[in-house]
Amino acid sequence: MAESMKGLHRSHRCTELSNRNIGEAVTVMGWVQKSRNKGGIIFVDLRDRSGILQIIFEKSDVGSEGFEKAEHLRSEYVIAVVGMVEARSGAVNEDLETGDIEIRASEIRILSEAETPPFPVEVESKTKEELRLKYRYLDLRRPDLQRNLMLRSKVANITRQFLSDEGFLEVETPMLTKSTPEGARDYLVPSRVHPGSFYALPQSPQLFKQLLMCAGYDRYFQLAKCFRDEDLRADRQPEFTQIDMELSFVDVDDVLDVNERLLQRMFKESIGIDIELPIQRMTYAEAMDRYGSDKPDTRFSMELKNVSEIVKNCGFGVFTSALEKGGRVRGIKVEGQADMPRKKIDALVDYAKDFGAKGLAYLAVNQDGSYKSSFAKFMTEDELHSLVKAMDAKAGDLLFFAADDDEVVFAVLGNLRLELARKLELLNKDEYRFLWVTEFPLLEYSEEDKRFVAKHHPFTMPMDEDLHMLDTAPEKVRAKAYDIVLNGTEVGGGSVRIYQSDIQEKMFEVLGFTKEVAYERFGFLLNAFKLGVPPHAGLAYGLDRLIMLMAKEDSIRDVIAFPKVKDASCLMTEAPNIVDDKQLKELGIRCQSPS
Ligand code: AMO
Ligand code: AMP
Repeated sequence: MAESMKGLHRSHRCTELSNRNIGEAVTVMGWVQKSRNKGGIIFVDLRDRSGILQIIFEKSDVGSEGFEKAEHLRSEYVIAVVGMVEARSGAVNEDLETGDIEIRASEIRILSEAETPPFPVEVESKTKEELRLKYRYLDLRRPDLQRNLMLRSKVANITRQFLSDEGFLEVETPMLTKSTPEGARDYLVPSRVHPGSFYALPQSPQLFKQLLMCAGYDRYFQLAKCFRDEDLRADRQPEFTQIDMELSFVDVDDVLDVNERLLQRMFKESIGIDIELPIQRMTYAEAMDRYGSDKPDTRFSMELKNVSEIVKNCGFGVFTSALEKGGRVRGIKVEGQADMPRKKIDALVDYAKDFGAKGLAYLAVNQDGSYKSSFAKFMTEDELHSLVKAMDAKAGDLLFFAADDDEVVFAVLGNLRLELARKLELLNKDEYRFLWVTEFPLLEYSEEDKRFVAKHHPFTMPMDEDLHMLDTAPEKVRAKAYDIVLNGTEVGGGSVRIYQSDIQEKMFEVLGFTKEVAYERFGFLLNAFKLGVPPHAGLAYGLDRLIMLMAKEDSIRDVIAFPKVKDASCLMTEAPNIVDDKQLKELGIRCQSPS
Protein backbone atom coordinates (compact mmCIF):
# COMPACT_ATOMS: atom_id res chain seq x y z
CA MET A 1 0.00 0.00 0.00
CA ALA A 2 1.39 3.37 -1.00
CA GLU A 3 -0.94 6.30 -0.58
CA SER A 4 -0.63 9.67 -2.24
CA MET A 5 0.18 12.78 -0.26
CA LYS A 6 -2.14 14.79 -2.48
CA GLY A 7 -3.77 17.66 -0.63
CA LEU A 8 -1.30 17.49 2.26
CA HIS A 9 1.60 19.84 2.83
CA ARG A 10 4.19 19.20 5.45
CA SER A 11 3.93 22.10 7.90
CA HIS A 12 6.92 21.35 10.16
CA ARG A 13 9.88 19.03 10.59
CA CYS A 14 9.55 16.89 13.71
CA THR A 15 11.64 18.98 16.08
CA GLU A 16 10.50 22.31 14.71
CA LEU A 17 7.50 21.77 16.99
CA SER A 18 7.60 22.61 20.68
CA ASN A 19 5.23 23.47 23.49
CA ARG A 20 4.79 26.87 21.85
CA ASN A 21 2.76 25.09 19.16
CA ILE A 22 0.29 23.46 21.56
CA GLY A 23 -3.19 23.72 20.13
CA GLU A 24 -2.01 24.07 16.50
CA ALA A 25 -3.08 21.76 13.69
CA VAL A 26 0.02 20.44 11.92
CA THR A 27 1.06 18.01 9.20
CA VAL A 28 4.25 16.04 9.71
CA MET A 29 5.93 13.41 7.53
CA GLY A 30 8.73 11.00 8.12
CA TRP A 31 9.81 7.48 9.01
CA VAL A 32 8.42 5.27 11.77
CA GLN A 33 11.17 4.81 14.34
CA LYS A 34 9.02 2.54 16.48
CA SER A 35 5.39 1.88 17.22
CA ARG A 36 3.84 0.58 20.44
CA ASN A 37 0.30 -0.76 20.51
CA LYS A 38 -1.26 -0.42 23.95
CA GLY A 39 -4.68 -1.79 23.02
CA GLY A 40 -6.95 1.15 22.36
CA ILE A 41 -4.06 3.54 21.90
CA ILE A 42 -1.00 3.45 19.63
CA PHE A 43 2.19 5.47 20.16
CA VAL A 44 4.45 6.05 17.20
CA ASP A 45 7.87 7.71 17.21
CA LEU A 46 8.13 9.60 13.95
CA ARG A 47 11.62 10.44 12.70
CA ASP A 48 12.97 12.87 10.14
CA ARG A 49 16.41 14.43 9.78
CA SER A 50 15.62 16.92 12.55
CA GLY A 51 14.82 14.31 15.20
CA ILE A 52 11.91 12.42 16.76
CA LEU A 53 8.32 13.34 17.59
CA GLN A 54 5.70 11.21 19.34
CA ILE A 55 2.35 10.66 17.61
CA ILE A 56 -0.65 9.25 19.44
CA PHE A 57 -3.42 7.41 17.64
CA GLU A 58 -6.85 6.76 19.10
CA LYS A 59 -9.86 5.44 17.19
CA SER A 60 -12.02 8.32 18.40
CA ASP A 61 -9.66 10.78 16.60
CA VAL A 62 -8.55 8.95 13.44
CA GLY A 63 -11.56 6.72 12.87
CA SER A 64 -11.43 2.97 12.52
CA GLU A 65 -9.81 3.00 9.08
CA GLY A 66 -7.06 5.32 10.31
CA PHE A 67 -6.58 3.24 13.44
CA GLU A 68 -6.22 0.08 11.36
CA LYS A 69 -3.50 1.77 9.34
CA ALA A 70 -1.73 2.77 12.54
CA GLU A 71 -1.92 -0.83 13.76
CA HIS A 72 -0.26 -1.89 10.54
CA LEU A 73 2.82 0.38 10.99
CA ARG A 74 6.31 -1.12 11.17
CA SER A 75 9.76 0.38 11.49
CA GLU A 76 10.83 2.54 8.53
CA TYR A 77 7.36 2.94 7.02
CA VAL A 78 7.03 6.43 5.58
CA ILE A 79 3.91 8.19 6.78
CA ALA A 80 2.10 11.51 6.76
CA VAL A 81 0.14 12.53 9.83
CA VAL A 82 -2.30 15.38 10.32
CA GLY A 83 -3.05 16.19 13.94
CA MET A 84 -3.07 18.55 16.85
CA VAL A 85 -0.07 19.47 19.03
CA GLU A 86 -0.77 18.64 22.68
CA ALA A 87 1.16 18.59 25.92
CA ARG A 88 2.49 15.07 26.61
CA SER A 89 -0.23 13.00 28.27
CA GLY A 90 2.30 10.67 29.90
CA ALA A 91 5.64 11.43 31.54
CA VAL A 92 7.85 14.01 29.83
CA ASN A 93 10.76 12.35 27.97
CA GLU A 94 13.83 14.36 28.93
CA ASP A 95 15.96 12.63 26.27
CA LEU A 96 13.89 14.02 23.41
CA GLU A 97 13.91 17.57 22.14
CA THR A 98 10.15 17.20 21.70
CA GLY A 99 9.75 15.20 24.93
CA ASP A 100 7.05 17.42 26.41
CA ILE A 101 4.63 17.33 23.47
CA GLU A 102 2.89 14.85 21.19
CA ILE A 103 0.65 14.98 18.13
CA ARG A 104 -2.86 13.63 18.46
CA ALA A 105 -3.44 12.23 14.97
CA SER A 106 -6.64 12.95 13.09
CA GLU A 107 -5.46 11.53 9.76
CA ILE A 108 -2.74 9.13 8.68
CA ARG A 109 -1.50 8.13 5.25
CA ILE A 110 1.02 5.40 4.61
CA LEU A 111 3.18 6.84 1.84
CA SER A 112 5.49 3.86 1.64
CA GLU A 113 5.84 0.53 3.38
CA ALA A 114 9.21 -0.97 4.29
CA GLU A 115 10.52 -4.48 4.54
CA THR A 116 12.15 -5.42 7.81
CA PRO A 117 15.41 -3.44 7.70
CA PRO A 118 18.70 -5.40 7.86
CA PHE A 119 19.67 -3.40 10.95
CA PRO A 120 17.91 -0.91 13.21
CA VAL A 121 18.28 2.82 12.62
CA GLU A 122 19.87 3.87 15.89
CA VAL A 123 22.49 6.15 17.39
CA GLU A 124 25.92 4.55 17.92
CA SER A 125 24.99 1.53 15.84
CA LYS A 126 26.47 -1.79 16.89
CA THR A 127 26.01 -3.15 13.38
CA LYS A 128 29.18 -4.04 11.48
CA GLU A 129 30.37 -1.24 9.22
CA GLU A 130 30.40 -3.48 6.10
CA LEU A 131 26.69 -4.17 6.43
CA ARG A 132 25.94 -0.55 7.13
CA LEU A 133 27.89 0.57 4.05
CA LYS A 134 26.09 -1.94 1.86
CA TYR A 135 22.82 -0.30 2.92
CA ARG A 136 24.30 3.18 3.22
CA TYR A 137 20.93 4.91 2.50
CA LEU A 138 19.56 3.20 5.62
CA ASP A 139 22.72 3.90 7.61
CA LEU A 140 22.50 7.56 6.61
CA ARG A 141 19.14 7.77 8.40
CA ARG A 142 20.97 7.35 11.69
CA PRO A 143 20.99 10.58 13.71
CA ASP A 144 24.78 10.56 14.22
CA LEU A 145 25.49 10.43 10.49
CA GLN A 146 22.78 12.98 9.78
CA ARG A 147 24.34 15.27 12.35
CA ASN A 148 27.76 14.85 10.68
CA LEU A 149 26.48 15.63 7.19
CA MET A 150 24.53 18.61 8.46
CA LEU A 151 27.71 19.87 10.12
CA ARG A 152 29.57 19.35 6.86
CA SER A 153 27.01 21.36 4.93
CA LYS A 154 27.18 24.12 7.52
CA VAL A 155 30.98 24.31 7.40
CA ALA A 156 30.88 24.45 3.59
CA ASN A 157 28.40 27.33 3.78
CA ILE A 158 30.41 29.27 6.34
CA THR A 159 33.53 28.77 4.24
CA ARG A 160 31.85 30.04 1.08
CA GLN A 161 30.43 33.02 2.92
CA PHE A 162 33.70 33.93 4.63
CA LEU A 163 35.87 33.57 1.55
CA SER A 164 33.41 35.50 -0.63
CA ASP A 165 33.41 38.30 1.94
CA GLU A 166 37.22 38.30 1.77
CA GLY A 167 37.16 38.79 -1.99
CA PHE A 168 37.73 35.20 -3.12
CA LEU A 169 36.01 34.01 -6.32
CA GLU A 170 34.68 30.47 -6.55
CA VAL A 171 35.93 28.94 -9.80
CA GLU A 172 35.54 25.34 -10.94
CA THR A 173 38.48 23.57 -12.50
CA PRO A 174 38.35 20.46 -14.72
CA MET A 175 37.97 16.89 -13.53
CA LEU A 176 39.26 15.43 -16.79
CA THR A 177 42.77 16.74 -16.96
CA LYS A 178 46.45 16.02 -17.20
CA SER A 179 48.28 14.41 -14.35
CA THR A 180 49.24 16.93 -11.60
CA PRO A 181 52.32 16.32 -9.52
CA GLU A 182 51.00 15.72 -6.02
CA GLY A 183 53.02 12.58 -5.53
CA ALA A 184 50.28 9.93 -5.37
CA ARG A 185 49.21 7.61 -8.16
CA ASP A 186 46.67 9.03 -10.62
CA TYR A 187 43.24 7.69 -11.47
CA LEU A 188 43.18 7.49 -15.24
CA VAL A 189 40.24 7.84 -17.60
CA PRO A 190 40.64 6.47 -21.12
CA SER A 191 39.83 8.71 -24.03
CA ARG A 192 37.48 7.29 -26.69
CA VAL A 193 38.38 9.96 -29.21
CA HIS A 194 42.13 9.52 -28.71
CA PRO A 195 42.64 5.78 -28.33
CA GLY A 196 45.62 5.00 -26.14
CA SER A 197 45.46 8.40 -24.43
CA PHE A 198 44.21 9.02 -20.94
CA TYR A 199 42.96 11.86 -18.83
CA ALA A 200 43.96 11.93 -15.20
CA LEU A 201 41.46 12.85 -12.49
CA PRO A 202 42.97 15.74 -10.51
CA GLN A 203 44.93 14.99 -7.35
CA SER A 204 44.29 18.64 -6.56
CA PRO A 205 43.54 21.75 -8.62
CA GLN A 206 47.13 22.92 -8.03
CA LEU A 207 48.18 23.90 -11.56
CA PHE A 208 44.81 25.32 -12.50
CA LYS A 209 44.67 27.56 -9.48
CA GLN A 210 48.14 28.87 -10.29
CA LEU A 211 46.95 29.52 -13.84
CA LEU A 212 43.96 31.41 -12.45
CA MET A 213 46.46 33.66 -10.66
CA CYS A 214 48.29 34.16 -13.98
CA ALA A 215 44.89 35.02 -15.42
CA GLY A 216 44.43 37.80 -12.89
CA TYR A 217 41.67 36.31 -10.72
CA ASP A 218 43.61 37.45 -7.66
CA ARG A 219 41.84 35.32 -5.03
CA TYR A 220 40.33 31.94 -5.90
CA PHE A 221 38.65 29.22 -3.90
CA GLN A 222 36.85 25.98 -4.61
CA LEU A 223 35.40 23.06 -2.70
CA ALA A 224 37.19 20.67 -4.98
CA LYS A 225 36.92 16.92 -5.40
CA CYS A 226 40.42 15.38 -5.52
CA PHE A 227 41.42 11.86 -6.49
CA ARG A 228 44.47 9.94 -5.30
CA ASP A 229 45.10 6.27 -5.83
CA GLU A 230 46.94 5.58 -2.59
CA ASP A 231 46.58 3.08 0.21
CA LEU A 232 43.61 3.96 2.34
CA ARG A 233 43.71 4.68 6.05
CA ALA A 234 41.19 5.99 8.55
CA ASP A 235 41.93 9.54 7.41
CA ARG A 236 42.36 8.89 3.69
CA GLN A 237 39.89 8.26 0.88
CA PRO A 238 40.60 7.79 -2.84
CA GLU A 239 38.28 10.70 -3.53
CA PHE A 240 38.08 13.46 -1.01
CA THR A 241 37.23 17.14 -0.84
CA GLN A 242 39.57 20.08 -0.43
CA ILE A 243 38.79 23.62 0.53
CA ASP A 244 41.29 24.90 -1.99
CA MET A 245 42.48 28.48 -2.33
CA GLU A 246 45.13 30.63 -3.99
CA LEU A 247 46.00 34.31 -3.51
CA SER A 248 48.06 36.80 -5.56
CA PHE A 249 50.52 39.42 -4.33
CA VAL A 250 50.97 37.74 -0.94
CA ASP A 251 53.61 36.04 1.20
CA VAL A 252 53.39 33.44 3.99
CA ASP A 253 51.91 35.72 6.65
CA ASP A 254 49.04 36.90 4.43
CA VAL A 255 47.93 33.33 3.73
CA LEU A 256 48.19 32.32 7.38
CA ASP A 257 46.31 35.40 8.52
CA VAL A 258 43.24 34.94 6.33
CA ASN A 259 43.17 31.22 7.15
CA GLU A 260 43.35 31.78 10.88
CA ARG A 261 40.32 34.01 10.63
CA LEU A 262 38.54 31.44 8.46
CA LEU A 263 39.22 28.69 11.01
CA GLN A 264 38.13 30.91 13.87
CA ARG A 265 34.82 31.72 12.20
CA MET A 266 34.27 28.14 11.05
CA PHE A 267 34.79 26.62 14.52
CA LYS A 268 32.79 29.28 16.32
CA GLU A 269 29.78 29.23 14.03
CA SER A 270 29.61 25.49 13.45
CA ILE A 271 30.52 23.91 16.80
CA GLY A 272 30.75 26.87 19.16
CA ILE A 273 34.49 26.48 19.77
CA ASP A 274 36.61 29.60 20.34
CA ILE A 275 40.01 29.47 18.67
CA GLU A 276 42.47 31.90 20.11
CA LEU A 277 44.50 33.81 17.52
CA PRO A 278 47.24 33.89 16.48
CA ILE A 279 47.59 30.11 16.14
CA GLN A 280 50.90 28.80 17.48
CA ARG A 281 53.67 28.46 14.88
CA MET A 282 56.54 26.01 14.97
CA THR A 283 59.22 25.28 12.40
CA TYR A 284 59.50 21.78 10.99
CA ALA A 285 62.90 21.40 12.66
CA GLU A 286 61.49 22.29 16.06
CA ALA A 287 58.45 20.03 15.62
CA MET A 288 60.70 17.08 14.80
CA ASP A 289 63.09 17.84 17.64
CA ARG A 290 60.39 18.22 20.30
CA TYR A 291 57.76 15.75 19.10
CA GLY A 292 59.44 13.49 16.56
CA SER A 293 56.67 14.41 14.12
CA ASP A 294 55.87 17.08 11.53
CA LYS A 295 52.26 17.01 12.74
CA PRO A 296 52.56 16.97 16.50
CA ASP A 297 49.58 16.50 18.73
CA THR A 298 50.09 19.33 21.20
CA ARG A 299 47.20 18.38 23.50
CA PHE A 300 49.76 16.66 25.75
CA SER A 301 53.46 17.24 26.30
CA MET A 302 55.68 14.12 26.76
CA GLU A 303 58.30 15.86 24.62
CA LEU A 304 61.45 14.22 23.27
CA LYS A 305 64.75 15.07 24.93
CA ASN A 306 68.13 14.72 23.32
CA VAL A 307 70.42 13.05 25.88
CA SER A 308 73.29 12.27 23.49
CA GLU A 309 75.69 14.56 25.35
CA ILE A 310 74.86 12.95 28.69
CA VAL A 311 75.35 9.34 27.56
CA LYS A 312 78.21 9.76 25.08
CA ASN A 313 80.80 8.24 27.42
CA CYS A 314 78.55 5.85 29.33
CA GLY A 315 79.05 2.12 29.56
CA PHE A 316 75.97 1.15 27.55
CA GLY A 317 77.20 0.03 24.13
CA VAL A 318 73.80 0.41 22.44
CA PHE A 319 73.90 4.14 23.15
CA THR A 320 77.58 4.80 22.47
CA SER A 321 77.73 2.80 19.26
CA ALA A 322 74.67 4.60 17.87
CA LEU A 323 76.39 7.91 18.68
CA GLU A 324 79.62 6.78 17.08
CA LYS A 325 77.70 6.04 13.88
CA GLY A 326 76.44 9.63 13.86
CA GLY A 327 73.10 8.83 15.47
CA ARG A 328 71.45 10.30 18.54
CA VAL A 329 69.93 9.11 21.78
CA ARG A 330 66.61 10.63 22.73
CA GLY A 331 64.14 9.86 25.46
CA ILE A 332 60.60 10.53 26.60
CA LYS A 333 59.22 10.69 30.10
CA VAL A 334 55.91 9.12 31.07
CA GLU A 335 54.85 10.64 34.35
CA GLY A 336 53.63 8.36 37.12
CA GLN A 337 53.96 5.13 35.12
CA ALA A 338 56.97 3.54 36.87
CA ASP A 339 54.69 0.67 37.89
CA MET A 340 53.77 -0.21 34.32
CA PRO A 341 53.77 -4.03 34.19
CA ARG A 342 56.54 -5.71 32.23
CA LYS A 343 54.02 -7.13 29.76
CA LYS A 344 52.84 -3.67 28.79
CA ILE A 345 56.39 -2.39 28.45
CA ASP A 346 57.23 -5.35 26.20
CA ALA A 347 54.20 -4.54 24.06
CA LEU A 348 55.51 -0.98 23.68
CA VAL A 349 58.95 -2.29 22.70
CA ASP A 350 57.27 -4.39 19.99
CA TYR A 351 55.28 -1.35 18.90
CA ALA A 352 58.52 0.64 18.61
CA LYS A 353 60.04 -2.09 16.45
CA ASP A 354 57.25 -1.54 13.89
CA PHE A 355 58.79 1.88 13.31
CA GLY A 356 62.30 0.62 12.76
CA ALA A 357 63.64 0.51 16.34
CA LYS A 358 66.24 -2.16 16.96
CA GLY A 359 65.17 -2.00 20.57
CA LEU A 360 63.77 0.37 23.12
CA ALA A 361 65.54 0.96 26.40
CA TYR A 362 63.51 1.82 29.49
CA LEU A 363 64.13 2.98 33.00
CA ALA A 364 61.57 3.29 35.79
CA VAL A 365 62.32 5.46 38.81
CA ASN A 366 60.77 3.52 41.68
CA GLN A 367 59.08 5.30 44.57
CA ASP A 368 62.07 4.50 46.82
CA GLY A 369 64.43 6.11 44.31
CA SER A 370 65.86 2.80 43.02
CA TYR A 371 65.75 2.03 39.29
CA LYS A 372 64.18 -0.76 37.30
CA SER A 373 65.74 -0.74 33.88
CA SER A 374 66.70 -2.78 30.84
CA PHE A 375 70.18 -1.21 30.78
CA ALA A 376 71.01 -0.21 34.39
CA LYS A 377 73.54 -3.01 34.60
CA PHE A 378 75.61 -1.35 31.86
CA MET A 379 75.84 2.00 33.61
CA THR A 380 77.27 3.34 36.81
CA GLU A 381 75.04 4.88 39.48
CA ASP A 382 76.39 8.30 38.52
CA GLU A 383 75.66 7.81 34.83
CA LEU A 384 72.12 6.68 35.59
CA HIS A 385 71.61 9.56 37.94
CA SER A 386 72.70 12.19 35.44
CA LEU A 387 70.46 10.61 32.79
CA VAL A 388 67.46 10.69 35.12
CA LYS A 389 68.30 14.27 36.00
CA ALA A 390 68.62 15.27 32.33
CA MET A 391 65.18 13.79 31.71
CA ASP A 392 63.81 15.77 34.66
CA ALA A 393 62.33 12.53 36.03
CA LYS A 394 61.10 12.08 39.57
CA ALA A 395 60.10 9.07 41.63
CA GLY A 396 57.26 7.23 39.90
CA ASP A 397 58.22 8.24 36.33
CA LEU A 398 59.00 5.88 33.47
CA LEU A 399 61.56 6.73 30.77
CA PHE A 400 61.99 5.30 27.28
CA PHE A 401 65.10 5.79 25.13
CA ALA A 402 65.82 5.16 21.47
CA ALA A 403 69.31 5.24 19.98
CA ASP A 404 69.65 5.38 16.21
CA ASP A 405 69.88 7.86 13.39
CA ASP A 406 67.52 10.81 13.66
CA GLU A 407 65.00 9.45 11.20
CA VAL A 408 64.47 6.24 13.17
CA VAL A 409 64.56 7.91 16.58
CA PHE A 410 61.93 10.45 15.52
CA ALA A 411 59.68 7.80 13.98
CA VAL A 412 59.99 5.56 17.03
CA LEU A 413 59.55 8.12 19.79
CA GLY A 414 57.06 10.25 17.83
CA ASN A 415 54.79 7.25 17.43
CA LEU A 416 55.46 5.84 20.90
CA ARG A 417 54.40 9.17 22.35
CA LEU A 418 51.05 8.91 20.55
CA GLU A 419 50.58 5.26 21.48
CA LEU A 420 51.20 6.07 25.14
CA ALA A 421 48.74 8.97 24.98
CA ARG A 422 46.09 6.67 23.53
CA LYS A 423 46.76 3.91 26.05
CA LEU A 424 46.83 6.33 28.99
CA GLU A 425 43.76 8.16 27.66
CA LEU A 426 45.43 11.55 27.53
CA LEU A 427 43.62 12.62 24.35
CA ASN A 428 40.58 14.79 24.93
CA LYS A 429 38.36 15.10 21.86
CA ASP A 430 36.74 18.25 23.25
CA GLU A 431 40.04 20.08 23.05
CA TYR A 432 41.14 21.65 19.74
CA ARG A 433 44.86 22.40 19.47
CA PHE A 434 45.89 24.05 16.23
CA LEU A 435 49.46 24.47 15.13
CA TRP A 436 51.14 25.87 12.01
CA VAL A 437 54.21 23.89 11.03
CA THR A 438 56.43 26.05 8.82
CA GLU A 439 59.76 25.96 7.00
CA PHE A 440 59.46 22.41 5.72
CA PRO A 441 62.41 21.00 3.82
CA LEU A 442 61.98 21.78 0.12
CA LEU A 443 63.18 18.36 -1.00
CA GLU A 444 63.61 14.86 0.26
CA TYR A 445 65.80 12.16 -1.16
CA SER A 446 63.95 9.21 -2.64
CA GLU A 447 65.92 5.99 -2.26
CA GLU A 448 63.48 4.37 -4.67
CA ASP A 449 64.02 6.91 -7.46
CA LYS A 450 67.63 7.69 -6.49
CA ARG A 451 66.98 11.41 -6.76
CA PHE A 452 65.52 14.34 -4.88
CA VAL A 453 61.75 14.70 -4.96
CA ALA A 454 59.72 17.72 -3.89
CA LYS A 455 58.41 17.35 -0.37
CA HIS A 456 55.33 19.43 -1.15
CA HIS A 457 55.33 19.93 -4.92
CA PRO A 458 57.79 21.25 -7.51
CA PHE A 459 56.25 24.75 -7.53
CA THR A 460 57.04 25.51 -3.90
CA MET A 461 59.30 28.50 -3.28
CA PRO A 462 62.57 27.99 -1.39
CA MET A 463 63.14 30.33 1.55
CA ASP A 464 65.01 33.45 0.41
CA GLU A 465 67.94 32.86 2.78
CA ASP A 466 68.40 29.26 1.54
CA LEU A 467 68.15 29.91 -2.19
CA HIS A 468 71.92 29.93 -2.62
CA MET A 469 72.11 26.29 -1.47
CA LEU A 470 69.79 24.94 -4.17
CA ASP A 471 72.82 23.84 -6.23
CA THR A 472 75.27 22.99 -3.50
CA ALA A 473 73.26 21.51 -0.63
CA PRO A 474 69.69 20.96 -1.84
CA GLU A 475 68.84 18.79 1.18
CA LYS A 476 69.37 21.79 3.45
CA VAL A 477 67.03 24.15 1.61
CA ARG A 478 63.90 25.05 3.51
CA ALA A 479 60.67 25.93 1.73
CA LYS A 480 58.04 28.59 2.16
CA ALA A 481 55.65 25.75 2.89
CA TYR A 482 53.27 25.38 5.81
CA ASP A 483 50.86 22.81 7.19
CA ILE A 484 47.98 23.41 9.51
CA VAL A 485 47.81 20.67 12.11
CA LEU A 486 44.89 19.99 14.42
CA ASN A 487 45.27 17.53 17.31
CA GLY A 488 48.02 15.65 15.48
CA THR A 489 46.24 15.47 12.12
CA GLU A 490 47.43 17.39 9.08
CA VAL A 491 44.21 19.12 8.10
CA GLY A 492 45.74 21.38 5.47
CA GLY A 493 48.86 22.45 3.70
CA GLY A 494 50.17 24.93 1.22
CA SER A 495 53.05 27.08 0.10
CA VAL A 496 54.27 30.21 -1.57
CA ARG A 497 54.90 29.35 -5.22
CA ILE A 498 57.86 29.90 -7.45
CA TYR A 499 57.00 32.53 -10.04
CA GLN A 500 60.48 33.27 -11.42
CA SER A 501 61.37 31.06 -14.37
CA ASP A 502 65.07 30.86 -13.46
CA ILE A 503 64.26 29.45 -9.99
CA GLN A 504 61.65 27.12 -11.46
CA GLU A 505 64.14 25.82 -14.01
CA LYS A 506 66.74 25.30 -11.32
CA MET A 507 64.15 23.43 -9.26
CA PHE A 508 63.38 21.08 -12.14
CA GLU A 509 67.10 20.56 -12.62
CA VAL A 510 67.53 19.56 -8.96
CA LEU A 511 64.57 17.19 -9.35
CA GLY A 512 66.38 15.58 -12.26
CA PHE A 513 64.00 16.74 -15.02
CA THR A 514 65.50 17.77 -18.30
CA LYS A 515 64.10 20.94 -19.82
CA GLU A 516 62.27 18.79 -22.37
CA VAL A 517 60.57 16.65 -19.73
CA ALA A 518 59.68 19.72 -17.68
CA TYR A 519 58.07 21.35 -20.73
CA GLU A 520 56.32 18.16 -21.77
CA ARG A 521 54.70 17.87 -18.34
CA PHE A 522 54.18 21.43 -17.23
CA GLY A 523 54.77 23.45 -20.40
CA PHE A 524 51.36 25.11 -20.15
CA LEU A 525 52.29 26.50 -16.72
CA LEU A 526 55.84 27.50 -17.66
CA ASN A 527 54.57 29.24 -20.78
CA ALA A 528 51.92 31.04 -18.75
CA PHE A 529 54.67 32.30 -16.45
CA LYS A 530 56.30 33.97 -19.48
CA LEU A 531 53.23 36.10 -20.06
CA GLY A 532 53.00 37.94 -16.76
CA VAL A 533 52.68 36.08 -13.49
CA PRO A 534 52.00 37.66 -10.10
CA PRO A 535 53.70 36.38 -6.94
CA HIS A 536 51.18 33.94 -5.47
CA ALA A 537 50.62 31.44 -2.68
CA GLY A 538 47.88 29.16 -1.47
CA LEU A 539 46.64 26.42 0.75
CA ALA A 540 44.20 23.51 0.75
CA TYR A 541 42.37 21.87 3.62
CA GLY A 542 41.17 18.32 3.68
CA LEU A 543 37.50 19.11 4.36
CA ASP A 544 36.74 15.51 5.33
CA ARG A 545 39.49 15.49 7.95
CA LEU A 546 38.37 18.81 9.38
CA ILE A 547 34.78 17.60 9.74
CA MET A 548 35.97 14.30 11.21
CA LEU A 549 37.72 16.18 14.02
CA MET A 550 34.88 18.64 14.50
CA ALA A 551 32.40 15.75 14.74
CA LYS A 552 34.78 13.85 17.06
CA GLU A 553 34.74 10.82 14.78
CA ASP A 554 37.66 8.43 14.32
CA SER A 555 37.17 7.81 10.61
CA ILE A 556 36.54 10.11 7.66
CA ARG A 557 34.06 7.52 6.38
CA ASP A 558 31.68 8.82 9.04
CA VAL A 559 31.59 12.31 7.52
CA ILE A 560 31.33 11.30 3.84
CA ALA A 561 27.90 10.38 2.49
CA PHE A 562 29.04 7.52 0.28
CA PRO A 563 32.60 6.53 1.23
CA LYS A 564 34.78 3.75 -0.05
CA VAL A 565 36.37 0.99 2.00
CA LYS A 566 39.97 -0.06 2.40
CA ASP A 567 40.30 -1.71 -1.00
CA ALA A 568 38.82 1.46 -2.62
CA SER A 569 35.52 -0.22 -3.47
CA CYS A 570 32.00 1.02 -2.75
CA LEU A 571 30.07 -1.73 -0.97
CA MET A 572 26.71 -0.26 -1.98
CA THR A 573 27.14 0.21 -5.74
CA GLU A 574 29.85 -2.44 -5.98
CA ALA A 575 32.10 -0.04 -7.90
CA PRO A 576 34.55 -0.60 -9.47
CA ASN A 577 32.92 -3.14 -11.75
CA ILE A 578 33.63 -5.04 -14.92
CA VAL A 579 32.25 -3.24 -17.96
CA ASP A 580 30.80 -4.48 -21.25
CA ASP A 581 33.16 -5.61 -23.96
CA LYS A 582 31.44 -3.10 -26.23
CA GLN A 583 32.48 -0.23 -23.95
CA LEU A 584 36.05 -1.47 -23.86
CA LYS A 585 36.19 -1.89 -27.60
CA GLU A 586 35.05 1.69 -28.14
CA LEU A 587 37.89 2.80 -25.91
CA GLY A 588 40.39 0.59 -27.67
CA ILE A 589 41.13 -1.26 -24.43
CA ARG A 590 41.82 -4.95 -24.01
CA CYS A 591 42.08 -6.29 -20.44
CA GLN A 592 44.46 -8.93 -19.27
CA SER A 593 42.63 -11.40 -17.09
CA PRO A 594 43.51 -10.61 -13.49
CA SER A 595 46.20 -12.97 -12.28
P1 AMO B 1 48.16 18.34 0.05
O1 AMO B 1 48.57 17.23 -0.83
O2 AMO B 1 48.90 18.57 1.32
O3 AMO B 1 48.25 19.74 -0.72
O4 AMO B 1 46.61 18.18 0.37
C1 AMO B 1 45.91 19.13 1.17
C2 AMO B 1 45.11 18.44 2.25
O5 AMO B 1 44.21 17.49 1.70
C3 AMO B 1 44.00 16.45 2.64
N1 AMO B 1 44.22 15.14 1.99
C4 AMO B 1 43.39 14.09 2.05
N2 AMO B 1 42.23 13.91 2.71
C5 AMO B 1 41.61 12.73 2.58
N3 AMO B 1 42.06 11.70 1.84
C6 AMO B 1 43.23 11.82 1.15
N4 AMO B 1 43.66 10.80 0.39
C7 AMO B 1 43.95 13.06 1.26
N5 AMO B 1 45.11 13.53 0.74
C8 AMO B 1 45.26 14.79 1.18
C9 AMO B 1 44.96 16.66 3.78
C10 AMO B 1 45.96 17.63 3.21
O6 AMO B 1 46.51 18.46 4.20
N6 AMO B 1 47.72 21.42 -3.89
C11 AMO B 1 48.23 21.31 -2.54
C12 AMO B 1 47.78 22.45 -1.67
C13 AMO B 1 48.50 23.75 -1.94
O7 AMO B 1 49.73 23.74 -2.06
O8 AMO B 1 47.80 24.78 -2.01
C14 AMO B 1 47.75 19.98 -1.95
O9 AMO B 1 46.94 19.27 -2.51
O10 AMO B 1 44.25 17.24 4.87
P1 AMP C 1 70.64 -5.85 24.35
O1 AMP C 1 71.97 -5.64 24.93
O2 AMP C 1 70.57 -5.91 22.84
O3 AMP C 1 69.82 -6.94 25.02
O4 AMP C 1 69.84 -4.52 24.68
C1 AMP C 1 69.69 -4.02 25.95
C2 AMP C 1 68.51 -3.10 26.00
O5 AMP C 1 68.69 -2.05 25.05
C3 AMP C 1 67.19 -3.77 25.64
O6 AMP C 1 66.20 -3.24 26.48
C4 AMP C 1 66.97 -3.35 24.22
O7 AMP C 1 65.58 -3.29 23.91
C5 AMP C 1 67.58 -1.96 24.22
N1 AMP C 1 68.01 -1.53 22.87
C6 AMP C 1 68.58 -2.25 21.88
N2 AMP C 1 68.81 -1.48 20.79
C7 AMP C 1 68.37 -0.25 21.11
C8 AMP C 1 68.32 1.00 20.43
N3 AMP C 1 68.75 1.17 19.17
N4 AMP C 1 67.79 2.08 21.08
C9 AMP C 1 67.36 1.95 22.34
N5 AMP C 1 67.38 0.81 23.03
C10 AMP C 1 67.88 -0.28 22.43
